[in-house]
Amino acid sequence: MNAVNIGLLGLGTVGQGTATILARNAEEITRRAGVPIRVAGAVVRDVAKAEAWTAAAGLSFPITTDGDALINDPDIQIVCELAGGEEPAHRWTRAALEAGKHVVTANKALIATHGNELLALARDKRVSLRFEPAVAGGIPVIKALSEGLAANRIEWLAGIINGTGNFILSEMASRGRDFADVLAEAQSLGYAEADPTFDVEGIDAAHKLAILGAIAFDTPIDFDSLCIEGISGITGVDVAFAEQLGYRIKHLGVARRREHGVELRVHPALIPMKRLLANVDGVMNAVVIHGDAVGSTLHYGAGAGAEATGSAVVADLVDLARGGSEPISLPSTVPDKRAALEPGDFSCPFYLRLEVTDQPGVMAAVAAIFGTLEISIEAILQKEPAAHEDTTVPLILLTRTVTEARVRDAITQLEALEDIVSPVVLLRVETLD
Ligand code: NDP
Ligand code: HSE
Repeated sequence: MNAVNIGLLGLGTVGQGTATILARNAEEITRRAGVPIRVAGAVVRDVAKAEAWTAAAGLSFPITTDGDALINDPDIQIVCELAGGEEPAHRWTRAALEAGKHVVTANKALIATHGNELLALARDKRVSLRFEPAVAGGIPVIKALSEGLAANRIEWLAGIINGTGNFILSEMASRGRDFADVLAEAQSLGYAEADPTFDVEGIDAAHKLAILGAIAFDTPIDFDSLCIEGISGITGVDVAFAEQLGYRIKHLGVARRREHGVELRVHPALIPMKRLLANVDGVMNAVVIHGDAVGSTLHYGAGAGAEATGSAVVADLVDLARGGSEPISLPSTVPDKRAALEPGDFSCPFYLRLEVTDQPGVMAAVAAIFGTLEISIEAILQKEPAAHEDTTVPLILLTRTVTEARVRDAITQLEALEDIVSPVVLLRVETLD
């Protein structure tokens, strides 16, 4: 039985997870793939460090710094791009496809920004470009969307798709830990991106949502059309008020089909505590996909980490070794009514936190603004001053569903009032109905 030889461009967290699984589960993987899958070489910057790792792990394959040589090695049939970043990942992926090799990549930034071009190149060269590990770590969500749910018109999907961000929010909520301290732990566990601002500013989740949205709605990948907000502005104060109102704050990616276009947005959101997504904690990810035929399906699992992500790399390798045909074919132009909507057109309920002077008449002035703009209030929470000498108090409002443009009008008017003493905090509420 001939082996399928693979080359690993990168032997860090994900590369090591992949090599470990291929060695440990070689018997099962060979049976499922029909042939052994063998690591024929790896490329890194620091060869000594990588060789120390393979020696400790009891593995043996050649390790070099020469990506082009590995790509052009005639004995290698599949190239795994597990280095990350823009370059040389982009050049390597193109070169491998040009050379007629299948490629598996975990690089969501690469697929979100160059996926259209790379998928077209793969099609031209009659090879496959796979990226299951790029979205939601170990959860087979690309396969679920492109194959398991292929019968459905996808209405919406919503997910927690950044493990680092969810780990930070969960630790802040459950243990009151400091943001920076939890981020440092996520980095040491190998969850965070090389540049962790991608995790905390929502860029990594946006890369993933751009990919999911394109597959869900059969459009080209259009990262630039996403509305993106991260979690760096979330404070323990809002986490605590949200809990009092029956919600948890999670960092969500939402893709929703509307009458005149699609919403693609990544931002922190209040989710009712009874929803499953509100109870997804730590590095775990979860994606709810709502199809017209099947209804809602929930996909849950580890969103980052060596073996969780390696599991998705190996799944793509097994599929390719079996000769699996290309499951994803995206159009080159945006079909009718599937262009991305502007953020102002999005509608949902909103959470607003105002810091107001503690005196009569303030509530009436606030209510007047909401009344004039015809924004209905669902709930109000007014707190006592934190200390006896405090002259201001927090006022929390939950609106009913309204467009974002209108709620931003209200904020402009609120912030012009003398009694509103600091910028209004705005968070979206996602009921997942
Ligand atoms: P690491 O930083 O842990 O590993 C990167 C590897 O690539 C290292 O072996 C590094 O070598 C090598 N490398 C990077 N640049 C070069 C270069 N220019 N030339 C040669 N080798 C290079 O990253 P991860 O494994 O965490 O991430 C890899 C990819 O997987 C990224 O796209 C990431 O977004 C994605 N991903 C990561 C997940 C995770 O949980 N970590 C989960 C899902 C996806 P050296 O160590 O010698 O510098
Ligand atoms: N940094 C990413 C995360 C890795 O934390 O989700 C997995 O894509």
